[in-house]
Amino acid sequence: MVKKDIYILGIESSCDETAAAVVKNGREVLSNIISSQVPIHRKFGGVVPEIASRKHIENVLPVIDEALKQANVGINDIDGIAVTYGPGLVGALLVGLSAGKALAFALDKPLLGVNHLEGHVFANFLVDGELEPPFMALVVSGGHTALMKVKDYNNFELLGQTRDDAAGEAFDKIARVMGLQYPGGPEIELLAKDGNPMAIDFPRALLDQSYDFSFSGLKSAVINYLHTEKQAGREINRADVAASFQAAIVDVLVKKSVHALKASGLKKIVLAGGVSANKTLQAELAAAVEAIGVTLVHPKPVLCTDNAVMIACRGYYKFLNNEFSGMDLNADPALKLG
Ligand code: KG4
Ligand code: ZN
Repeated sequence: MVKKDIYILGIESSCDETAAAVVKNGREVLSNIISSQVPIHRKFGGVVPEIASRKHIENVLPVIDEALKQANVGINDIDGIAVTYGPGLVGALLVGLSAGKALAFALDKPLLGVNHLEGHVFANFLVDGELEPPFMALVVSGGHTALMKVKDYNNFELLGQTRDDAAGEAFDKIARVMGLQYPGGPEIELLAKDGNPMAIDFPRALLDQSYDFSFSGLKSAVINYLHTEKQAGREINRADVAASFQAAIVDVLVKKSVHALKASGLKKIVLAGGVSANKTLQAELAAAVEAIGVTLVHPKPVLCTDNAVMIACRGYYKFLNNEFSGMDLNADPALKLG
């Protein structure tokens, strides 16, 4: 018997992107629609939850329609509906989740509740068709920083996470202090290109042998530096500040990853989450892991930040594992990894 193709519709609305996508057999992207609210939130210097929820309500159905249209797939051909149910902003999550539940109920199709962070990890399956667990994952997003072992498609072990700010959050906060626009990561990366990463020796919190992270000390050090220089009337080299700050973050992420890889013996590591778009992080991590015989996989730029392809991909493996969600599935803003 010929194996039937499986079509999963993915829906994502955890923060400021309303997204829908259709993925065939877990790895073939048929459509990837993202309606970004970034220009709307930029005026406020960050995401305004109430505005995000309202925009998701306006966008969710048109985005789903467009994803089906571009994939050239009818709604009745969809085998399962994968939707993010956490972590994220509760009001934002509820919009995508309600749309997913309504569709699953009306069409009598399986509902697949997806953890947004697992979704980010699964974006890597769309880059490397050969990628199979086990591997290490470094998750670096706006709200999370974590190291995790992906033992198989449905089994994860959290090794460590941030005790305070996430890497992306630190980028956003420092960018804001420096008068750069939201989101701060790409802005800092751009400014850092003209700077010297060794100009200022910002602190690196390595927390001994732990796999946990801490970036709040670094954040305070950068703010203090800017303040002291201003008080002293010295001219600040903004590019040097951006490059030195970025170097401190990247250094910690790379050192912890190498430490975890050596201890685990795993031969592959994947990057996941918005900060994985950072070219310096990609290059430094690739070089450091190559030196210990490990390969790095990272998503294409469009799949580094929030999208629904990664949610459909994660949902596909839940579908294969018969891990279906009930209609009582609720949004969980603090949903944990692993
Ligand atoms: O994964 P994501 O799109 O949303 C969350 O799930 O949080 O990540 C957004 C975060 C923001 O903090 C943003 O500043 C950061 O990813 N980011 C970057 C870059 N592109 C996005 N950070 C550093 N360098 C980048 N190129
Ligand atoms: Zn995300």
